[in-house]
Amino acid sequence: MEVWEIDILKAIKERRSVHTFKEELVNETILKEIFTYGSYAPSHYMKESWNIKIYEKAGKNAFVDAIMKSYQRIGMIRDNNDPKTLKMIHSMKNFLLAIPHHAVVYFEKEDDQVRYEEEYSSVVAFIQNSQLAAWEYGVGMLWTITPYMHDPQVGEEIGLDGKRFKMAAVMQIGYPARIPRDKGRTPIEEKLEFVRE
Ligand SMILES: Cc1cc2nc3c(=O)[nH]c(=O)nc-3n(C[C@H](O)[C@H](O)[C@H](O)COP(=O)(O)O)c2cc1C
Repeated sequence: MEVWEIDILKAIKERRSVHTFKEELVNETILKEIFTYGSYAPSHYMKESWNIKIYEKAGKNAFVDAIMKSYQRIGMIRDNNDPKTLKMIHSMKNFLLAIPHHAVVYFEKEDDQVRYEEEYSSVVAFIQNSQLAAWEYGVGMLWTITPYMHDPQVGEEIGLDGKRFKMAAVMQIGYPARIPRDKGRTPIEEKLEFVRE
């Protein structure tokens, strides 16, 4: 049977994680459309558990400061006034501030483990839907999970109640300055097994 290469299949294969972005901002209408497509992700009980906080323009300053302070608390960066340390902080801050949008995707925590997994799974589907939709708009994303997401003080500093909410990911967003090469994938036969009797 012939399968037409419809847009969604093309987007699934051609989407890449983008690490370098142009300065230009993605306008609010496009961001809303992208995340609207994201929200067509499956969701048990139609909970639609995803929430997004987008840090952009001057809103990035406090966000990036919170990240840097967290890196120092965690020990990823030294906490001193050594010129080497200050230079590193300066370049990391500039790198993060040059990214047009940082979107924190978060959801309400559930005490029940099964519910928690349901919420988290559907938020992950939301993220991938959004990445694919973004690709159709020529917008790139980088899905990141970094140690500061588990630092409760960061939540406090960026306006997210860490007791109530769990950060699922931080998406870096913008128009790609460079599209990385396709790394290819392992043939699915190596991962797939049919159990027929
Ligand atoms: C849950 C998750 C977390 C990720 N975290 C990072 C990250 O912190 N830094 C990064 O450079 N890439 C991160 N990635 C992106 C992967 O490195 C990327 O998807 C993989 O190399 C395949 O490249 P592609 O998306 O361009 O096909 C993450 C991806 C996932 C799904």
